[in-house]
Amino acid sequence: KIFKGSEDASAFVAKEIADLIKKRASDGKHVVLGLATGSTPTRVYAELVRMHKKEGLSFKNVFTFNLDEYFPMPPDSLQSYVRFMNEHLFNHIDIPKQNVHIPDGTLPKEQVAEYCRNYEKKIDDLGGIDIQVLGIGRTGHIGFNEPGSTEKSFTRLVTLDQVTRIDAASDFFGEENVPRKAITMGVGTILKAKRTIMMAWGEGKARVIKKAVEGPITDQIPSSFLQKHDNCLVVLDEAASSEL
Ligand code: GLP
Repeated sequence: KIFKGSEDASAFVAKEIADLIKKRASDGKHVVLGLATGSTPTRVYAELVRMHKKEGLSFKNVFTFNLDEYFPMPPDSLQSYVRFMNEHLFNHIDIPKQNVHIPDGTLPKEQVAEYCRNYEKKIDDLGGIDIQVLGIGRTGHIGFNEPGSTEKSFTRLVTLDQVTRIDAASDFFGEENVPRKAITMGVGTILKAKRTIMMAWGEGKARVIKKAVEGPITDQIPSSFLQKHDNCLVVLDEAASSEL
């Protein structure tokens, strides 16, 4: 779905999320959202906050699982995804604290594998992710599933691609400060979601969007696996769609 600009596009995505939350609430049921960080989803979160404040949209029946976190990463650090999510969304809505899940960047390394298995289990125990929101990285990554990530990959510790670390350099005041690793949901975790919505804005994403949407399905562009998902929506602004 191509919009003129990212503002209309973000409002469209936020409305889809809000409609599901309201429908489930009226049936006395919960919703599980898979959430992403980065600049791409910030307007969706701002719109959800607006709906909470102005229209009374409640998040009391919502559970969230974030895609990824740098490793290691203290939660109060400027670059932490915990901090990002709190600032952009969680601090401004009525979601119960215990419903929020973000991969833990403070674990001792030997506990990470078990933690990741448990992350998957928690998602499954809640009935799976209803809507997974995604951005896309320049390497074609979704979450931090860099080239080489297979269709059957699940939540795990990964090594970041050089291109991703260069793209994150300004956030960390230099590439040398960007962590080399991250915990991310896998491509397999993402493909299990009932609905996936990948968003991209701006000319800078046009090349990788072409590869993800129209190129061959390959682990060299992990987002291309979304072509196999039977309920995937790609939401673009005109600039990001310019090479399609
Ligand atoms: C990071 C995140 C991804 C995100 C990507 C794109 O790598 N881990 O989930 O999709 O950045 O970021 P942006 O939306 O700022 O372009």
